[in-house]
Amino acid sequence: MDASETDKGPYPYYMLKEIDEQPNVMRKLAALYTQESGKPNIDTGLINALNEADRIYIVGAGTSYHAGLVGKKMFEKLAHVPTEVHIASEFAYDDPLLSKKPFFIFLSQSGETADSREVLVNVNAHDYKSLTITNVENSTLFREATYTMLLHAGPEISVASTKAYTAQIAVEAILAKALGEAKEQTIAEDFDIRQQLGLVATGMQAIIDEKDMIEKLAKKYFVPAPRAFYIGRGIDQTVSLESALKLKEISYVQAEGFASGELKHGTIALIEEGTPVVGIITQEKTANLTRSNLQETMSRGASTFTIVRRSLALEDDTIIIPDVDEMITPLLSVVPAQLIAYFTSLNKGLDVDRPRNLAKSVTVE
Ligand code: G6P
Repeated sequence: MDASETDKGPYPYYMLKEIDEQPNVMRKLAALYTQESGKPNIDTGLINALNEADRIYIVGAGTSYHAGLVGKKMFEKLAHVPTEVHIASEFAYDDPLLSKKPFFIFLSQSGETADSREVLVNVNAHDYKSLTITNVENSTLFREATYTMLLHAGPEISVASTKAYTAQIAVEAILAKALGEAKEQTIAEDFDIRQQLGLVATGMQAIIDEKDMIEKLAKKYFVPAPRAFYIGRGIDQTVSLESALKLKEISYVQAEGFASGELKHGTIALIEEGTPVVGIITQEKTANLTRSNLQETMSRGASTFTIVRRSLALEDDTIIIPDVDEMITPLLSVVPAQLIAYFTSLNKGLDVDRPRNLAKSVTVE
């Protein structure tokens, strides 16, 4: 590890430094894992092994599990391979019914999570092939999997994971494209991931440059709130889970991420005057539905906000994120949520990097 990489520099907390590093991580991954032509640059042995699988099983915990939920959408869309995502601690003891030719992908920032390792030990006992995508070379999950890909995100020190989540999604996108191309899927051949990651890097920077506005919003609405909600549909729902996790783990605001259509089946009962509800809206098909679900909470007193993709934006939207391919919008829509969590924690006077009761790497089951 390079000592300068672990230096906080001018930053008050590692989390803000790590949020700020994301555009560079995107550029680095594009340079390392794609060629100038836009074609993925990935071990052919890995692609061949993946290509033989009839089903992909993604396993992870916490934020890595949430990155897996995004990966599922990409593997299914670009490569047409059915993909399941499992919480590691559940999968290990659930006697899962597997397909004939499963392939396992382990997502883990640290490469040391005991829950995920327990699954990998079982996978190896059955001689199934696996890939670990991790930020830490030579970590346990790195050493024990058949194939490995590194996240190249640099050390992540803050307990709340930020750049590892976006790096995991970027690597999954490149991998899904490579697999899709191996399967001659036109949608994968047409998906220029190298160009898209360039757009993502610039887009992330544009959002990061809006920090002051996001801090004001966090201070006014999230700091005083006992609870808050993120809602969305499809891929936006997966980002709502990660957004709520960020907020709850470092600011202690009780936060939930929800499929926006489910809110009215129970959880809307929790909405009170001033409860913050953030709608994540990046998918054309469901944009209006999430907007109307947001409206339902507003009429019950919620303070509502939106994180919206530019081409779907309306006049009163709160945070506009630049346009990128609909499949990879989580790389941008999560950034405002990371900043909301950071500034809520900061303005509550909490230790942003070291939240109570949590550890960066959990090596017990
Ligand atoms: C801990 C961390 C989380 C992380 C999870 C999984 O709970 O606090 O930020 O998402 O472990 O860790 P991993 O290293 O496997 O990604």
